[in-house]
Amino acid sequence: MKLAVVQYSPIRGDVTHNIAAIVDHIRATDANVIVFPELATSGYFFYDTASARPFARHAEELEEIIAAAKTARRTVVCGFLEGGKRGPLYNSALIALSDGATMVYRKTHRFYREVDVFAPGDTGFFVIDLPDVDCRLGTMICYDWRFPESARTLALKGADVIACPSNLVTHIWRTAMPVRALENKVWLAVANRSGEETVSNETVRFNGDSVIYTPAGAVAASCGPTQDETIIVDIDPLATRDKHFNTYNDIFADRRPDMYA
Ligand code: ACM
Repeated sequence: MKLAVVQYSPIRGDVTHNIAAIVDHIRATDANVIVFPELATSGYFFYDTASARPFARHAEELEEIIAAAKTARRTVVCGFLEGGKRGPLYNSALIALSDGATMVYRKTHRFYREVDVFAPGDTGFFVIDLPDVDCRLGTMICYDWRFPESARTLALKGADVIACPSNLVTHIWRTAMPVRALENKVWLAVANRSGEETVSNETVRFNGDSVIYTPAGAVAASCGPTQDETIIVDIDPLATRDKHFNTYNDIFADRRPDMYA
């Protein structure tokens, strides 16, 4: 199957434009699974819930994305600002399946000023069997990477591929992210963005370099630091299901949870 990452830089606050651009990318990208960045419908940087709320949508309001995924028979993972006129906002990922079904993952670990904007995610980590291909897909969002438990939970639940919509603003992730793939023997698709956003004289810069890692933690394909760009890799999801790395050692069977308490 084909796994794609779209490095897309949204216009902050222009939800109509961003959704149209995401739909264009879905139509143009020939892959079974397409991963977009975190908060791709809205932009990233907000100081509080009130200023973010105009750009929030419920998952069912992303009908153009859901319809494009179904028509093109793709699975799409896309970060969005989830919520309505009242109630909590979440930093979420829409998972739009090729049969028209949808799921939502809400970011578990909030980064920096996200704490003032979003409620902590309450969906937990889950894995979906994809309708068209023999592949199990899990999702985490950006800063979730800092917690090995995120990817480990998804892998223990059977994920072959972990999608990681991201808006990465530091560089340290390049050291740890491949380890999330290697230590779980899974494919890992990190969709980052480039560019910058400024609020009240504070600027955050996003560093691009989106990447698809193999189950050995090697780079299968990567983007540059500044441009919008799409990468597509032919992957074998079944390669992740045997967790041995020699005849004696299996990274899951060798675990000693009784020693970790
Ligand atoms: C991040 O979680 N957007 C760094």
